[in-house]
Amino acid sequence: MHDPRIIVALDFSSAVDALQLVNRLEPRLCRLKVGKELFTTAGPQFVEKLIAKGFDVFLDLKFHDIPNTVAKACAVAVNLGVWMINVHALGGRKMMMAAREAISNSPTRLIAVTLLTSMDQGDLADIGLQGTPEQIVERLAQLTKDCGLDGVVCSALEAKRLRQQLGDDFCLVTPGIRSADSQSDDQMRITTPRQAILNGAHYLVIGRPITQADDPILVCRQLSKEISSI
Ligand code: C5P
Repeated sequence: MHDPRIIVALDFSSAVDALQLVNRLEPRLCRLKVGKELFTTAGPQFVEKLIAKGFDVFLDLKFHDIPNTVAKACAVAVNLGVWMINVHALGGRKMMMAAREAISNSPTRLIAVTLLTSMDQGDLADIGLQGTPEQIVERLAQLTKDCGLDGVVCSALEAKRLRQQLGDDFCLVTPGIRSADSQSDDQMRITTPRQAILNGAHYLVIGRPITQADDPILVCRQLSKEISSI
């Protein structure tokens, strides 16, 4: 069975633009990520359309609310037939456990975002969070695992430590991926697909290097070849 490691981030503001790209991709080579921008404009029907085309969909809506609300949102997301969903670990133990419980009979993977990579030490002080970003990421990833979730989103640089800390079965999904020869866009800390996999990432979220490419399927093929040769 094929298990593509590449998740293409469909960061588009219209269904038409997203579909134009999707029609040039193949489920055998990649999975797709639908985030807040595309979901807000195109809705659940669009997600169902992607699934009907044979793609596994990561619905990246990062739920964060009271436990009951998050649990119910997870349950309806799972009913769409998505492959993976996520919540914010900062929502806490009760929220994550309620989410897990709500979809315990489903094959959909449930992961958490630890700390947004946009938050620096000053942002943490503003909201009263103690410790360095690294310490907080480790603590929230451990909490995520303790609550029975399947994994976390993390940078490839964090993946190495989290893989050691949390074991081989805990799923690590890493954005910020760029080929050695490509531009970094606005990503501050980037890692090659090869290095991310060597660091212990299971899945790589890749946006612009594929979505903005002249030949997206070719880039996708090259990246999967690079990964599978490891
Ligand atoms: O275009 P690019 O490859 O930078 O896109 C990366 C994707 O991963 C985007 O959808 C972005 O929102 C997401 N992401 C990220 N950094 C994080 C978490 C998510 O770039 N820390």
